[in-house]
Amino acid sequence: MQKMPPKILVTRKLPSAVEARLSERYDVRLNPDDRPLNRAQLSAAMARYDALVSTVSDALDASILQAPQRRVRMIANVGVGFSNIDMNAARTANIIVSNTPDVLTEATADIALLLILASTRRTSAAEKKLRQGDWRGFSVVDDLGTSVQGKTLGIIGMGRIGRATARRAHFGLGMQVIFYNRTRLADPVKVLGFAARQVDSIDALMGTSDVVSVHVPGGGAGPLISARHIAQMKPSGYLINTARGDSIDQKALVAALVEGRIVGAGLDVYADEPKVPDALLQLDNVTLLPHMGSATAEVRVAMGMLAVDNLDGFFDGSGLVNQVF
Ligand code: DGY
Repeated sequence: MQKMPPKILVTRKLPSAVEARLSERYDVRLNPDDRPLNRAQLSAAMARYDALVSTVSDALDASILQAPQRRVRMIANVGVGFSNIDMNAARTANIIVSNTPDVLTEATADIALLLILASTRRTSAAEKKLRQGDWRGFSVVDDLGTSVQGKTLGIIGMGRIGRATARRAHFGLGMQVIFYNRTRLADPVKVLGFAARQVDSIDALMGTSDVVSVHVPGGGAGPLISARHIAQMKPSGYLINTARGDSIDQKALVAALVEGRIVGAGLDVYADEPKVPDALLQLDNVTLLPHMGSATAEVRVAMGMLAVDNLDGFFDGSGLVNQVF
């Protein structure tokens, strides 16, 4: 008797080449409308499918992962981050989880660099003025931003994307780099290709950086960058976040921006996506992007293909390329 192919639920629309590859090998349910699934649909899926291909917008919490009559044994998450998945609950339920690192490193660092430049050069406010027909022509004193050359970039989280951002900022923009990382980098010059100083705490970084860029995974019990940390920033400072919105105390950040305690921010991620606080939408001193760090056609295909590699490795027993635990 022929073996039935594993049943796979793909929670969001994927690039067509990835969906075609999935359909060749699996009994796959796609999401052509790309409508996010609600809690009830995700819970029901746990009992109907052998695996999920999920992504960062699927909140897979303990009650979903431990749904009764669970059949799902593997979750191939499309994204390097997996803070959408309660990893303790997955472990308890014996569900294997994979992610898609590396392939999105450069694209995400590009967006970090874009946000560094957009916020320090105030391009969002300037473009808005032009689009509204309020540009009066060239002025020597209007639309002034801040130069970053020779300024200090403080990187929080010197993993792959933090390093790629550091290199761009140093070699491309002439910035000096300091960084905080949970573990000590034995030889930053070897790892980065230039000298960058590692500091021992986030406190030591906030007050000495002209621009702070966040590159940590998120999903902790509380925000790693707290109101106290934000209060330590220079009044001339900028905060950039391309990682996860819950890594920063968003309320405190908004208050600092509204009250002018820091000059600006560049954000690609938010605490409760897709909600963006109204106060942020009103501000001229922030550049806001819709979580698009890895959003290039090439990278999204590569992420999808890597998720399928992980799925294949699980079901053919050859092992996962990127098992999270
Ligand atoms: C990730 O991969 O974690 C990004 O946030 C989505 O591309």
